[in-house]
Amino acid sequence: MASTWFETVSLAQKRAKQLLPPSVYGALIAGSEKGVTIAQNQEAFAQIGLAPHVAGHKPHRELNTEVMGIPLSLPVLISPTGVQAVHPDGEIAVARAAANRGTAIGLSSFASKSIEDVTAVNENTLFQVYWSGTREQMLQRLDRAKKAGAKGIIATLDWSFSNGRDWGSPWIPERLDVRTAAKFAPQALTRPKWLYTFLKSGRVPDLTAPNLQASGGEAPTFFGAYGEWMGTPPPTWEDVAWLRKQWDGPFMLKGVTRIDDAKRAVGAGVTAISVSNHGGNNLDTTPATIRMLPGIAEAVGDEVEVLLDGGVRRGSDVAKAVALGAKAVMIGRAYLWGLAANGQAGVENVLDILRGGLEAAVLGQGKASIHELSPDDLVVPEGFFLRLGDPRGTSGPMIDRQAAQPQPTAARASE
Ligand SMILES: Cc1cc2nc3c(=O)[nH]c(=O)nc-3n(C[C@H](O)[C@H](O)[C@H](O)COP(=O)(O)O)c2cc1C
Repeated sequence: MASTWFETVSLAQKRAKQLLPPSVYGALIAGSEKGVTIAQNQEAFAQIGLAPHVAGHKPHRELNTEVMGIPLSLPVLISPTGVQAVHPDGEIAVARAAANRGTAIGLSSFASKSIEDVTAVNENTLFQVYWSGTREQMLQRLDRAKKAGAKGIIATLDWSFSNGRDWGSPWIPERLDVRTAAKFAPQALTRPKWLYTFLKSGRVPDLTAPNLQASGGEAPTFFGAYGEWMGTPPPTWEDVAWLRKQWDGPFMLKGVTRIDDAKRAVGAGVTAISVSNHGGNNLDTTPATIRMLPGIAEAVGDEVEVLLDGGVRRGSDVAKAVALGAKAVMIGRAYLWGLAANGQAGVENVLDILRGGLEAAVLGQGKASIHELSPDDLVVPEGFFLRLGDPRGTSGPMIDRQAAQPQPTAARASE
């Protein structure tokens, strides 16, 4: 226990770096182009301060909530990611950990495990789709998710195929055959523990996308699936409304950063949105999500559930997002580091860290529940909040600083 347990997500990341082959670690750390957005997602949380009390703390703190009709023991969900080569148990380990800690998992279309296997270990599974393939293929995938027992859909629409990283993209083979294995072997041999975990499981990293397999066909490779997606004409708002209508149940649109888009998502009939910039993996220099959250929550929070993802590494980050209007947050890299560091137990470890940090923040702020957290509990720098696409602004993605000023920042850093 002592050697595998970690006390912060940052330590889990350090361990992941030591354990994973460099190209696998590189694929997780990712971030596009210069990596401005991925860095800012985390830095923005650090710029917000807490304003704790010294007495009058509440003896019990309620952390539970409900998202898309699913009761959660804490306002943290697993965001969908493809985790093919991190651990042989992949999304099954993540789903089990989430179930053990009372939360839901978003399962990526590009996941290495099937929706049937994941719902079998966590009944609170949300299946994530892209606008990819023909309408018939999309319907088949939704139908399969429904039959498998998925509780809801996450439609991720923020991807615009930006590419290139200043530190170089990791090499990902099309398939793991003898030739590619030989090419990969030198770096795998430098990470014997990772190699041993896979050898012990009797499996090699699965580079296919089983959830995109047509009935009777073979699972496409990651690149095959990516090619289908790239070749699909991008969706209109009518397409989004169409897709939403095809799912009889809760439906989230992930990737919203602008107020005008949030309102259109409401018009398309979604149940929830996630304020997200794909963890800094999409268009670099998109601002940190926490800076856009209050404007979006204020605009549509009464009509849909507003979540946030991007940069969450600590329980206090969760508290800050909830205080600024998020019903819950979704985590990506935080649980991937946990999975790499210690499999299912590592993901549980990460969720425990977030729970502990959140509870400390709620205690310090003198609240009995996360639902009492408000912007008054935070110290926010002047001009921090952004209102992209605000109809009260001039046009397009202008930052309406006038509108940003009166945002509820009770205790400002300058005071
Ligand atoms: C390695 C990796 C793979 C991802 N794959 C997907 C995916 O398949 N579908 C999706 O909607 N988002 C995907 N994301 C984005 C995450 O769901 C989430 O938005 C992001 O990781 C949140 O930022 P964080 O990593 O700072 O928590 C991926 C992110 C990473 C790091």
